[in-house]
Amino acid sequence: MNHLQTKLTEHTGITVPVICGPMFPCSNPELIAAVSEAGGLGMIQPMALTSIHKYEFRAGLHHIKSLTDKPVGMNLLLEHAFKKYQVRMDQWIDIALEEGVRFFLTALGDPAGVVERIHDAGGIVYHDVINRKFALKAVDAGVDGLVCVNSSAGGHAGGTGALPLFEELSDLGLPLVCAGGISQPQEARAMIEAGYAGVQMGTRFIASSECNVHPDYHKAIIEAKASDIVLTEKISGVPVAVIGNEAVRKMGTHASGLAKKMLRNPRTKKWMRMYYLVRSMRRLPSASYKGSNYQNFYQGGRSVGGIDEVLSAGEIVKNFEDGLK
Ligand SMILES: Cc1cc2nc3c(=O)[nH]c(=O)nc-3n(C[C@H](O)[C@H](O)[C@H](O)COP(=O)(O)O)c2cc1C
Repeated sequence: MNHLQTKLTEHTGITVPVICGPMFPCSNPELIAAVSEAGGLGMIQPMALTSIHKYEFRAGLHHIKSLTDKPVGMNLLLEHAFKKYQVRMDQWIDIALEEGVRFFLTALGDPAGVVERIHDAGGIVYHDVINRKFALKAVDAGVDGLVCVNSSAGGHAGGTGALPLFEELSDLGLPLVCAGGISQPQEARAMIEAGYAGVQMGTRFIASSECNVHPDYHKAIIEAKASDIVLTEKISGVPVAVIGNEAVRKMGTHASGLAKKMLRNPRTKKWMRMYYLVRSMRRLPSASYKGSNYQNFYQGGRSVGGIDEVLSAGEIVKNFEDGLK
C-alpha cells in the first residue's frame, strides 16, 4: 500500500508526508528549503530566522523562495507575555500570507485568534498538542489538523506515547501528525499504518548537512542513545528534552526555591517562564552554534537512538519517500 498520499499531503501540497518541525534556534533557511525541495515540508521558525539567522523577516522568506519554489510552512508561537512579540507575530503572519505561505503550525497558546484570518487567505492551520484537553480547545478554534507531540519528542516533549496519543485523539475527526521519536522510514510507515497522516521530525533534521549548527552538536546526536535523553525545566520552565551530559547534570533538571513556587502558581508561572525563555534565547544559540568547548546542553529527542550519521536533508526525505512507497 502506498503511504505517500495522506490528508497532510493534500492540505499542504507536498509529496512526502514528512515535516521538518520548526526549531528554535536550528531552523536555518537552507535546511527549510532543502526539506521542501525534496518533497517534505520545511517549517519557518520566525524567531530563529530573524534573531539567530539574522534575516529581516521578508528578506528571509525571499531567500528561502530563491532556493525552492515548493511549499514551506511557518510556526506561530502564540503565548507571549510581551505585547511587543504579539505585534511582531501579527506582522509576520501578514507578510507570510503575502509571500504565499499557506500552512501554519500554531503552538503554546489558543489558536482561535489566528484561524479565521488564515482561512480567509486560503491557508491551513495545524496546532501542536500533547493531550486531549488542548486538542479539544484547538478543535473549538477551528483548526484543520493536529501535530501530536508525544513523550519521545525533542523540544517541549509531551507525556504520552505515540500510539496511546493517537488513540486519545483519533475520534476528533482531524488529521493527526506524529511528532517525536521518529528517525527511520519504517517507523513513519508504522505510524501511518496506525492512522497518522504523517510525521514531524526535528532531531533527525538537526543531524543534516544543511542544518548549520556546530559540528559538536551533530556529533552529540550521533553518539547519544535514547536513554541519554533527559527532561529539564531549567530552560523554559516546562520540560524540554536534552541530551544528558555533564553540563545538564551541573545545571540540574528541576526548578527549585522561588522559581519552583512561581512556576506552580497560575498567576506567576507566565512570568517565570518568560524569564527562563529570555535567558534561554541567549544560552540555546550559544550551545548549538559554539560547540562543546563553549558550553553546554544540546536539545534532542529520543530519536537520537536511530541516528548514526549526518545525511543531507534531501537524502533523509528520499529515504522516507522510498520507505513509504
Ligand atoms: C532543538 C529543537 C527546537 C525546537 N523548537 C521548536 C519551536 O520553536 N517550535 C515548535 O513548535 N517546536 C519546536 N521543536 C519541536 C519540533 O518541531 C518537533 O516537533 C520535534 O523535534 C519532534 O521530535 P523529534 O525531535 O524526536 O523528531 C523543537 C525541537 C528541537 C529538537
